[in-house]
Amino acid sequence: MARFPDDFVFGASSSAFQIEGAPDADGKGPSIWDVFVARPGRVRNGADAVVACDHYARWPEDVEIAGDMGLDAYRFSISWPRVMPTGRGSVNRAGLDFYSRLVDGLLAKGVRPFPTLFHWDLPLALQRELGGFRNRDVASMFADYAATVARALGDRVTDWITVNEPFEFACFGHLYGTHAPGVRNPFAYLPALHHQLLAHGLAVRAIRAESAGCRVGAALSWTPVHPARAAPAKAAAADLAAAARVNDLMNHISFGPILLGAYPESVASGRILRPPVEPGDMDAISEPLDFIGLNYYSREKARNNPLVPFIRADVSGKEPRELPETDMRTAMGWEVYHEGLTEVLAELRTRYGNPPVIVTEFGSAWTDAVDGEGETGRRVHDLRRVRYLQGSLRAMQAARAAGSDLRGAFVWSLTDNFEWAEGNAKRFGLVYVDYATQARIVKDSGRWYSRLIAARDLDSVSEEA
Ligand code: FCB
Repeated sequence: MARFPDDFVFGASSSAFQIEGAPDADGKGPSIWDVFVARPGRVRNGADAVVACDHYARWPEDVEIAGDMGLDAYRFSISWPRVMPTGRGSVNRAGLDFYSRLVDGLLAKGVRPFPTLFHWDLPLALQRELGGFRNRDVASMFADYAATVARALGDRVTDWITVNEPFEFACFGHLYGTHAPGVRNPFAYLPALHHQLLAHGLAVRAIRAESAGCRVGAALSWTPVHPARAAPAKAAAADLAAAARVNDLMNHISFGPILLGAYPESVASGRILRPPVEPGDMDAISEPLDFIGLNYYSREKARNNPLVPFIRADVSGKEPRELPETDMRTAMGWEVYHEGLTEVLAELRTRYGNPPVIVTEFGSAWTDAVDGEGETGRRVHDLRRVRYLQGSLRAMQAARAAGSDLRGAFVWSLTDNFEWAEGNAKRFGLVYVDYATQARIVKDSGRWYSRLIAARDLDSVSEEA
């Protein structure tokens, strides 16, 4: 059962803000992330993404690398303000042309493009003038933008992803304020979440109207939440209940509406905080999809805490912390927990009707070291990343064997890139980026992935290059 079928899609992912740089080239408008990273203290070591991986200029090299690696597909995101500088109204032809060339380049290398339409870099004007996704109108503006892009690329793009991780964008951006737009307001969280889900649903319809026969999905994170304490019995029961609440708030809050047309009961029945649902919203949000994208990294643990307002639980396990990196804990401080991926895929079968799934992100950050010298002599021996990818893929195989309709898997990420509030400090790539020179070095994990894609069989591919 270690073999993946020939039509299983092996890919790698990225997002516009994290790799492109060139924040105001060729008529691009500013995004909320452009201004967020410029604020002191928001990003580790004061890093910004003005250059990032310089992908806007170096995309041909990145496409070349993706093609040579043998990727079946590449997931990238389209920057909304590159295409529509103020988020609505006028279209920036040069921005659309950039993505058009990227799509052509990928297709020429035999790599299927999987664009995501919103990966967090909201046009700044929509935030400043309308309050961003807190404002319901932004959902239909997103659908207009999606239609514009589908009209321009739909003759060549067959696979679309609407939004990436609406939960993270709503929570980190509007509740904790650690991501753009940097809002810390419990009353902003559910509107920002609901309107992204609505934006997704309206965009599904808009894309299909422009490009019949294409496939559309959304990329949602699912971080299983387990109780922190197994004993004594009273604490264990309290933590179990806390874990259920947090699972609703982090996971079922987007899977429920999108796949079943309903928020989890604990969310829908909130007395003070409730998603601002209007008639027709849930129908749009639950528009049937061709696949559901799943982003999986780790698990969290919940400990009951009645003193914490809103969720009455302390949650720990995924936030970056200054913990030593070990085989079982990545550079992000995230626990290596592959079983969680099998668990989540099982719950997608039992609770959500076994939809076609594509793992749109899985991967890990480690402290990489460059060995050797010269253009071709430099190597990155990242065995921990290879082992991590193996573990994740075995977890996916277990789910497939149990009946999951899992059709593809995309590694986060093709290249090292700008990891949001962590700046350049955390490397997730199959390809190392030397930020001083912008040189790319395919890591041992990238070489391993390439061999795996060719063989499609975990057991027959050696770890060592
Ligand atoms: C996900 C994001 C992605 C990347 C990975 C590590 O939450 O979608 O952009 O930052 O985490």
